[in-house]
Amino acid sequence: MDQPLPLFEICNRMTRYLIAVFVLVSYVTVASGFMGITPTEPFSYSNQLDTSGNYLLFWKFNDTYITFEVHVKTHGYVGFGLSDNGKMYPADVVVGWVEDGVAHFKDYHTTAHAPPVLDKHQDWFLLHGEENDFRTVLKFVRKIDTCDEAEDKRIEFLIPAASTTYNCRVFRMPNIGGKHHMIKVEPIITPGNELLVHHMVIYRCSGNDPNLDGVNYMCFGDVPQGLQQCYHTIIAWAIGGQAFYYPNHVGLSVGALDDPDIYILETHYDNPAKKSGVIDNSGQRITLTRNIRQHEADMIQMGHQVDWTQNIPPFEKAYDSHSYCSSQCIDHGLGNLTEIKAFGIFQHAHLLGRAIKTRHFRNGSELLPLAIDSNYDFDFQQTRLLRNEIPIRHGGLSTQNEMCASFILYYPKMELQNCISSPIYDSISNDVNKVRPLLEAYNWTSPQVREVFREKLSESSILHTCQGDKMVPQILKYTFHETPPKNEYTRPVSECP
Ligand SMILES: *[C@@H]1O[C@H](CO)[C@@H](O)[C@H](O)[C@H]1NC(C)=O
Ligand SMILES: *[C@@H]1O[C@H](CO)[C@@H](O)[C@H](O)[C@H]1NC(C)=O
Ligand SMILES: *[C@@H]1O[C@H](CO)[C@@H](O)[C@H](O)[C@H]1NC(C)=O
Ligand SMILES: *[C@@H]1O[C@H](CO)[C@@H](O)[C@H](O)[C@H]1NC(C)=O
Repeated sequence: MDQPLPLFEICNRMTRYLIAVFVLVSYVTVASGFMGITPTEPFSYSNQLDTSGNYLLFWKFNDTYITFEVHVKTHGYVGFGLSDNGKMYPADVVVGWVEDGVAHFKDYHTTAHAPPVLDKHQDWFLLHGEENDFRTVLKFVRKIDTCDEAEDKRIEFLIPAASTTYNCRVFRMPNIGGKHHMIKVEPIITPGNELLVHHMVIYRCSGNDPNLDGVNYMCFGDVPQGLQQCYHTIIAWAIGGQAFYYPNHVGLSVGALDDPDIYILETHYDNPAKKSGVIDNSGQRITLTRNIRQHEADMIQMGHQVDWTQNIPPFEKAYDSHSYCSSQCIDHGLGNLTEIKAFGIFQHAHLLGRAIKTRHFRNGSELLPLAIDSNYDFDFQQTRLLRNEIPIRHGGLSTQNEMCASFILYYPKMELQNCISSPIYDSISNDVNKVRPLLEAYNWTSPQVREVFREKLSESSILHTCQGDKMVPQILKYTFHETPPKNEYTRPVSECP
């Protein structure tokens, strides 16, 4: 046997089993690598670690132990490792092989791109090893916490003991054998974590890099190459929300040739008490059908750019923060369609949100708002079906009050995916880098200063970002000034006696 080197690795603390489950309806075929392969006993989880199906992994765990079984197309050695960053080192590694019917197996660790180092304390144990005509099979177990921090990785997905964490996890949709419609989305929250899992957003985009599957990262930190432009939201859920069913005549396409197959699950953990040691495996269960429905649904995200440009002054009793999705952007997205029909909406704000209104303008006049939630409750957020479908046409302009975002479900599908705005505060300084320090130096306790801020904000140009993966051009950015509508919407006079 040559000097053993780890062959494969699984990424980041085994979170693979932890987050979103794509529960597809039963006729979906699993990736070909598992064809005809059965583990030596039932396992709760499995994954193919390479693209060609040469390395299959099964695992299960309880509070104390985690058991793995690998089936690898080799008659040589098998390496297996765990690392926080998905890289070969620093990693917790085992290497094993079967020779003349005898299995060999040892616990190592890596500290560099070099052969692994034997652990002084052996914490992984071989349960079974065999070699057949095709493969080497190894089954092994270790304690979840081996108490050997120096040489073994702790296996956990811990919610960081920070007040806010945006965790992003990449999934690649397996080949499900053609076009399906997504018809239901349902949250699966780890019991006990109901208050910590604050919201989940699933983005979808194209990507050919097989290594992206299973990657885990901090959403607003170091975003991996190839994912920077993954902004198309298809599912939005937040605390309090229940299962969402698409209406009978619409579905969201999954698995068709031109459907992107990279899914990113963004989970926002809200942990104000900075509780530590919490393990989470929450996700969203997606139900697909092969019975294609009449219309192709999609989702547009509208709202305020999520960054420092959204300022809510302190000490205000009520404050209205607004953003726009302009008619220019909607016209561009509609292309040759006359209209789209909005059938559902998910309105989202954080703790300061008290009311959210998604307004609708056409040709300068305000129409019936898409949705008004005048008692916005952070703890109860739900995708709502609209009572009547609302057509959005050329010349339409939607805007929304109060912070954050509206996700609008509509059909038929157009290419516009993201329609957001932010003030650029050119009324405060022409040098954008100076604005933030200037705002930070404002004496916000003074009502006069807050009044000045409101004025400056209303005089600021608004930067509009309008984008879609397949829109031509893919992104439009332009600035405009707010113009109040000629006519505001007024509720029809009540006919009650
Ligand atoms: C946990 O799993 C290990 C390894 O399979 C097993 O020996 C142990 O009995 C299990 N513990 C419980 C409480 O089920
Ligand atoms: C509208 O445009 C799309 C692509 O931009 C094209 O496939 C379709 O045929 C057009 N429809 C009509 C009615 O022109
Ligand atoms: C828009 O409004 C103007 C007058 O305010 C009117 O002349 C024009 O016909 C309207 N356009 C549409 C498409 O309704
Ligand atoms: C800020 O404004 C308040 C209220 O007008 C005033 O009492 C206070 O002195 C101001 N602070 C500074 C540092 O100017």
